[in-house]
Parts: sequence; C-alpha cells; structure tokens
Amino acid sequence: MRVAVIGGTGMLGVPLCEVLAARGHEVRALSRSSTTFPVDLSTGAGLRDALAGCDAVVDASNGRGRAAQTVLVDGSRRLVEAEAAEGIRHHVVVSIVGCDQVPSFSYYRAKVAQEGTVRTGEVPWTVVRATQFHGFVDMVFGAVAKAGLRLSSGVALAPVDVREVCDALAEVTEGPGEGRTLDIAGPDAVPIRDLARAWHRATGRGRVPLRVPTWGPTGRALREGALVSAAPYARGKVDFGSWLERTYA
Ligand SMILES: NC(=O)c1ccc[n+]([C@@H]2O[C@H](COP(=O)([O-])OP(=O)(O)OC[C@H]3O[C@@H](n4cnc5c(N)ncnc54)[C@H](OP(=O)(O)O)[C@@H]3O)[C@@H](O)[C@H]2O)c1
Repeated sequence: MRVAVIGGTGMLGVPLCEVLAARGHEVRALSRSSTTFPVDLSTGAGLRDALAGCDAVVDASNGRGRAAQTVLVDGSRRLVEAEAAEGIRHHVVVSIVGCDQVPSFSYYRAKVAQEGTVRTGEVPWTVVRATQFHGFVDMVFGAVAKAGLRLSSGVALAPVDVREVCDALAEVTEGPGEGRTLDIAGPDAVPIRDLARAWHRATGRGRVPLRVPTWGPTGRALREGALVSAAPYARGKVDFGSWLERTYA
C-alpha cells in the first residue's frame, strides 16, 4: 500500500513511518517541514499533490493552543476533503483515550471535534485513541522537574510504548475503514504519583512532590479512570518502569 502519514516528523509520526515501511508499505511523511511532501493543514497547501496515488492516510499531526483549532479541527476537514477528491480508501485519525470524558480541557475538546470531522466526512474512517506515550510522560515530568518538582496525583494513566502504538496503528491502517473507535493502551493503570516517583528514581530529578488537586466533574472523571481504557483493542506490553530502564540505563 501507499500510505501518507500526516505529522510524519512527530513523536508518533517518525516511528510510525518506520513501522509501516518495515511492513513493506510505501510511506510518505507529510508535514510543514517535510522536504519531499511539504503540506500545511492550517491552509491546505500541498495536500492534493501529496495525497495523489495514496491508498490510506494516517493523521498523526498535532497542534496546541490556537493551532488545536486550525490544525486539528479545520485542518482535519481540509485533509478529509482533499482525500475524498483523491479517492483515498481509509482515513485513520489518532486521538486520545478519554478525550470525550474531559471537556474542560480545551485541547481535548479539539480532539473530539477532530474526530467529528472524520466521522462525518466522506472517506471510510477509523478513530484510534491511544493513551499517553512513555516519551510524552517523560517530557511532562522533565518540564515540571525544571523547578525541582514532581507531580503527585492519584489520577491514573496507562502510558504506552509508542512503537507498540505504531504496530497496532499499522495493522488498523492495512484494513478497511472500520467506522468505529479503537483504543490502544499501556499494560497497566498507574497513579501519576507512582509514575513520577519511578521517574525521579531513574533520573534523580524532581525531588519535591507537587500535589495536583482535582475537583468538579473533571476531577471526578479523571479519578474514575477517564484516561485509561478498560477494554482496549490493543494493549502494549512495555510498562513505564521498563521504558525508564531502557531509556536511562
Ligand atoms: N503524545 C502523546 O502522548 C499522545 C497520546 C495519544 C494521542 N496522541 C495524538 O497523537 C498525535 C501526534 O502526537 P505527537 O505527540 O506525535 O505530536 P508531535 O510530536 O507534536 O508532532 C506533530 C506533527 O504534526 C506536524 N504538524 C504540526 N502542524 C502542522 C501543520 N500545520 N500542517 C502539517 N503538519 C503539521 C508536525 O510537523 P511540522 O512541525 O514539520 O509541521 C509534526 O510532524 C496527536 O494527534 C495527539 O493528540 C498523542
């Protein structure tokens, strides 16, 4: 198959392109900084040319702040329209487990809206929701540790190895549009405070616990496990501890 990966230069996109290529597919990595297929979802520039002749598209792009609307939501609409014009047979969008449970997070509202543009578009689709990648959790803990702090919260995450997400994503992409939402999660649900302690032991950084209060409907949803998946389509095997050993050994 010829597969276009939008956001092919990102934390997910780079290993996804590698995994797809290793499975024998012809892969096009699309993003603003791509030298071969530059595209800009916020304007639609380059999309039609980059998608010509492709069979499937995985949307692994990202945008934060104002770009959440222009890239994830409006960009997704532009992307699906270009795909319909180019006869793409399967659109896979990468989303986040529980994004519909936490509407007070504006980024999560954008992810829900992005999913909506895909579900109502003309191209056969599958929504694949992943839990937080180990590398993302590491990045957040690292940012907090710059102030000498480490997060302390009972809210559970189920961090997942990005390679295992890519394996499951590739398998989904090879199939037809499922017209449904599939979850990919890490092996266990672990309170953030325990993940942060393990990170502190591995890195020696972030000595002082910072209690993160949760309140209201958002707090309840998070405490009740909104960000973990009870029955995922695919469950990774690599836990955060093993990932830390591999990364910081
Ligand atoms: N990180 C996690 O833990 C996690 C967990 C679950 C789901 N997800 C989802 O997975 C997706 C990818 O996340 P990520 O962490 O891999 O993101 P990332 O590392 O920030 O990568 C974002 C990608 O999007 C591209 N991009 C940004 N603006 C663009 C634009 N205007 N036009 C075209 N491409 C653009 C970037 O390349 P250029 O800058 O070159 O354009 C880059 O390749 C997101 O939808 C996210 O919600 C992430």
